[in-house]
This record gives sequence, structure tokens and C-alpha cells, in this order.
Amino acid sequence: MSDGYERAYRASLADPEAFWAAAAAGIDWENAWTQVLDDRDAPIYRWFVGGELNTCFNAIDRHVAAGRGDQPALIFDSAMTGAKRMLTYAELQYVTARFAGVLAGFGVGKGDRVIIYMPMVPEAAIAMLACARLGAVHSVVFGGFAAHELAMRIDDARPRVIVLASCGLEPGRVVAYKPLLDAAIDQAEHVPEACIILQRPECVARMTARDHDWHALIDAAPPHACVAVAATDPLYILYTSGTTGEPKGIVRDNGGHAVALHWSMQAVYGVDVGDVFWAASDVGWVVGHSYIVYGPLLRGCTTVMFEGKPVGTPDAGAFWRVIADYGVKAMFTAPTAIRAIRRADPEGVLLKAYDLSRYEIQFVAGERCDPETLHWAEQKLGVPVIDHWWQTETGWAISGNPIGLGRFEVRAGAAGRAMPGWDVQVLGDDGQPVAVGETGAIVCRLPMPPGAATTIWNAPQRYREAYLDRYPGFYQTGDAGFIDAAGYVFVMSRTDDVINVAGHRLSTGAIEEALAAHPDVAECAVTGIRDALKGQVPLGFLCLKAGVDRKAEDIVMESIGIVRSTIGPVAAFKRAVVVDRLPKTRSGKILRGTLRRIADGDPYTIPATIDDPEILREIAVKLEQIGLPAINHGDQ
Ligand code: COA
Ligand code: AMP
Repeated sequence: MSDGYERAYRASLADPEAFWAAAAAGIDWENAWTQVLDDRDAPIYRWFVGGELNTCFNAIDRHVAAGRGDQPALIFDSAMTGAKRMLTYAELQYVTARFAGVLAGFGVGKGDRVIIYMPMVPEAAIAMLACARLGAVHSVVFGGFAAHELAMRIDDARPRVIVLASCGLEPGRVVAYKPLLDAAIDQAEHVPEACIILQRPECVARMTARDHDWHALIDAAPPHACVAVAATDPLYILYTSGTTGEPKGIVRDNGGHAVALHWSMQAVYGVDVGDVFWAASDVGWVVGHSYIVYGPLLRGCTTVMFEGKPVGTPDAGAFWRVIADYGVKAMFTAPTAIRAIRRADPEGVLLKAYDLSRYEIQFVAGERCDPETLHWAEQKLGVPVIDHWWQTETGWAISGNPIGLGRFEVRAGAAGRAMPGWDVQVLGDDGQPVAVGETGAIVCRLPMPPGAATTIWNAPQRYREAYLDRYPGFYQTGDAGFIDAAGYVFVMSRTDDVINVAGHRLSTGAIEEALAAHPDVAECAVTGIRDALKGQVPLGFLCLKAGVDRKAEDIVMESIGIVRSTIGPVAAFKRAVVVDRLPKTRSGKILRGTLRRIADGDPYTIPATIDDPEILREIAVKLEQIGLPAINHGDQ
């Protein structure tokens, strides 16, 4: 057990204000805060009240001012095009200040929203940082979402400007973004004043009067200085899946976010100024926000932006090539990526082709790391493999194994122990703590440390209802699991409709809403089922309207198309079955849990509340017809 961790953890809970005030010394403030933690509106808390700062200044300018302008800030490597590019801190400052000038030219100022719809290119990070420079609020939308999802975000965030790339690149496929944007703007009520387009040679977008060319603008733009904002002002909105089809716009502040992320780079990941850190995620997810862009740059590290996949671009050695080429010290990816590599290169032969002498540690998060994947990675990579657990809402790790404070023993299946600032508890249905080792809802005692979500954009009441009301005095994570006697946190499943597909967070409720649009579908249910590569994938159950006598296969194919075109390819919705009826309780509630257990081939007992038990047998037969290992345990 690590003394450093124990000490820091106890101190953070005994006196959170002193703990985080000390961490805040790592940030340059325009004006110091007058109060570390404001609890007057509890359960809503605000950190560093009265303080003023600029996040972009802390991420870029202060490193240049400290004489580190020539240090690499951002390395771009596209396995899709072969492009490689490096920006020093001075170069990043030059281009970010100019892009801030471009945005200001369109009237973007403090508090205005800017949507960024871009793949993994440096300009995505530059656009985010330019917004931060102006005190504007960015909202990055993941490229794997379709027009409808983009339209919902446009209407909620009401951006003055949208910044996009002409395309993203997926293996064997160019994803043209401009038609998706045009369709989204057609569907949305809100119309942005301007769109700024980064033209990529792989697909040049057709411009309209509203569109402007990134390069033409930036060449002519004056640099813009950093604008001081309140610590409590919003830095960004990041939409994430909830229970319904309507995404939740998680809001992150400037001050608490900068303090927590700067602190976490050293304490949690063990990296510091000049170290090369690589999070192989996407800027559209929270991992990309926190650990491709803000965390490494706030700490003065070098960050890597990689466009490509862990396998097939060109092979399962892509990650090892990047680690070797850039001297990556610590890397972060999702367990699904490790599973994909293991499947393609089970003996780890490709690892041996690279010089990995500077690679010290591997982090995984985004979904539970199953022990088999963990052990394979530990054995083949030859470095510690650290699972840590967090969410879009928390912005950084709730539990993990803090390298900078003192690493402790890894327990397979656990996501480490609670990180400083997080008082993690497991509660039962009655809201009382369960016994050690018993499963329940995982919650965090309020206040949450700096960096956690401050509200939901446009929906403060929804924030309270979704996270704070169910267990008064606690933040409800939406995850279920247990904590063992040594304090290790085991995150086992969700308590809501969220599923985790290849490390991507999706709502089954949103998929059901999309399916309901099919004219022949009367009713449907979607559940996540186990998948050896992606962890979970969605499976749809469709009941047709009376009198529909079309072929079930055609309706299934059309349904798959509908989900792809409304939510996007990232939903990975590829399987559905047409069933006569859905199993329901006598009060009419669909038994989704039972459906999932049948589809996963798990033992189940017929629920006492079911209105018609025979239906489960019929569904098991249908699932077997599409190759699922459904075992009928219905008579147990
Ligand atoms: N833009 C457009 N389409 C995208 C996209 C993007 N940014 N990202 C994914 N998609 C598409 C894919 O092309 C695929 O389309 P297809 O159905 O036509 O094949 C679909 O969405 C599903 O993508 P994905 O789930 O990523 O599957 P995959 O087979 O392409 O790759 C993995 C599988 C495991 C290699 C990949 O999911 C992976 O690397 N996952 C790690 C995820 C991660 O880092 N998550 C962040 C949390 S830390
Ligand atoms: P996201 O908000 O997209 O980052 O997804 C967060 C969700 O992913 C969490 O609520 C968990 O359900 C899951 N998750 C993330 N990291 C882990 C982990 N290390 N172990 C188990 N589940 C995880």
C-alpha cells in the first residue's frame, strides 16, 4: 500500500479546500479566488469563486513565456493518410491566437458557443483552445454521429459559429462531414451565422455563402489575446448519452477544470513537463477533451493526436509504432482496443519490431477491463497496466492507481481505489450503505472535487434530477458495483439505459426512439448484449404493427439503416429480431433485463411479474435463428 496515496486521499477528504487550494498553485491566475469552495447553493457547489484565469493561457502561452516555446506541444500522426506534423508550443500559440482572431471576427466572444465537428486533426484542438482563449464555450461533436444528433446539439447549444472539417477518414471510407452538417442545419431550428471549413484533400466540400475557408481566414487574421474569465464560467459543453434520446450537455467550468487536470497529470498519470503523453481516443469524447488536449498541455507535456485504428491501419502494430516514433512515456486507450490488438496479434509479435524503451505505463478506461485482457496486456506489453474509472460528468478519474502519489498493487477486475477528492460509496435501494463487497449503486459524496460537471446546459433541473436527487448528499454515477475490504472499486454495470459499445457511451433509449420511426414498427426494445471485441453491442427486438406482412429480414435491414442514419455508425447497431410480442410485467413494463439475459445465454428465472411466460421461449428460438447462444432456461 502506498503511504503517499493514503496521505493525499485522507487530506483531500479531511480538508478539501486546503487540498485543492494547494493544487491551484499550479495554475496561473489573473486574479486569485476569494473562496475556494462555495457551498451556499448546496447540493450545487462552485470552486475558486472570485478567481479569474484563461485556460488557453495556462495551456499554451505560459509555457512559451517560461522559455519552452521550442518544445513540441502537439504531435499529429495520421495512419490514414501517412501525414505527420509537429507543433511546438510557440507554433501552437501562433496559430491558436490567429484562429481566436478569426472567431472574434465573426463576433464570437465570452460566453458565445461554437460547435466543432472535426476528426482527429490538430485544427480540432486549435479550435477548442481558440474558444478557450476568447472565453467562448466550445462543444465538440464526435464525427461518428449522424446529422440528427448534430442537429439536436445545434438547437441546444445555439452556436454562433460551427467549425468543421470537410471529412473524417475511416478504414476504406471517407466520411464527408459537409453533407451531414447541411442536413443537420436543415433539421435544426437554430441557424449559425457562419461555418468555417477545414478542407482536407481527401474530400473537398462544396462551399455556400455561409461557409468560409479555414486557411484563407487564418492567413489574414490578427492574433487575439487571452481573455480573462471567471473560474466558474463555462469552458465547454460536451453532450453525452442519458436515459432518453435527448443528450445531456455536460458543462465544465474553467477554474476547477484547469486545477484538477493539471494536478491529475502528475498525481494520477505520473507525467510532467516535457513528457510525451498519448491518449488514443477522439476529441469528440471526454477522454479527448481531458487527456488529448487540456491535461497534457496544462502540464506542459507533449500530446499525441493519432488518426487511425489500433488494428488495420496498417496492422495491429500501429500503437507500438507511434509509441516508439515519439517516445511516448504513458499511453491511454480503451480495453476494446487492446482486445482488437490481441485478436489480430495474439502472441504480441508486432511489439517486438519497435523500440519501446521509453514506454513506462499503460492506462485503460472507458469500459470495464476484463481480467483476461488485463493479464494479456501486462504480459505482452511488459509495463504496468492501470485500469481507472471515470465519466464525461466527472472529467477525470474517480478511481484508479495514482502513479505520482505512489502506485499500489493492481487487482484484476477492479478500477483501482478512489482518487483524492472522491468519497466513493455503494448504496442499496434503500439509500443506505451496503456491506463491504456487496453490490449496489456507486455514488460519490458531495461536494465532488474540482473539474466535475457543474450543470447540464439549459437544464439545471435535469442535472439535479439525473444526478443529485435520488441519493441526497451524493452524486449518483449511474454505475453499479462493489468496493472490497481493501477499498478497490469494482464497476460492473450501469443502473440506467446506457450501454458501452467499444468504449463509446450510447443510450438504448435513443436507439429505441430511432427505431420507433420505422412505419411498420409498433413497439420495440433495445438491450446491450455481450460482445467479445466491443464489450457490448446493441440488439433490437421489434414488434410489428397489426397487418404488416412484409419479410422480417427486410424490416430488420431497414431498421439498421434508420439507426445508422439518425444516431450514426458509431451505434454499431447491426442486429435485430422481429418478435410477436415483448415480454412485459402485468403493469406493462418491458422486461429488458430478462431479454438481455436470454440473448447473452445466461441462466434466468421466469419473473413472477411476467404477464405471459410462454413468450420467453418463443424469443429464445428467434434469437437462436440469428446465431445468438440463447439457452432457454425459462422453466427453471
Ligand atoms: N466518424 C465516422 N464514423 C465512425 C467514427 C468517426 N469518427 N468512428 C467510428 N465510426 C464508424 C466506424 O467506421 C464503424 O462503421 P462501420 O459500421 O461502417 O464499420 C462504426 O462507426 C463502428 O465503429 P467502432 O465501434 O469504432 O468499430 P470498428 O470496427 O471501426 O473498430 C475498434 C473497433 C475496437 C478497433 C474501435 O472501436 C476502437 O479503437 N475503439 C477504442 C475506442 C476508444 O478509444 N474510445 C474512447 C474512450 S477511451
Ligand atoms: P463516458 O462518459 O463516455 O466516459 O462513459 C462513462 C461510463 O463508462 C461509466 O459510467 C462506466 O459505465 C464506463 N466506464 C468508464 N471507465 C470504466 C472502467 N474503468 N471500468 C468500468 N466501467 C467504466
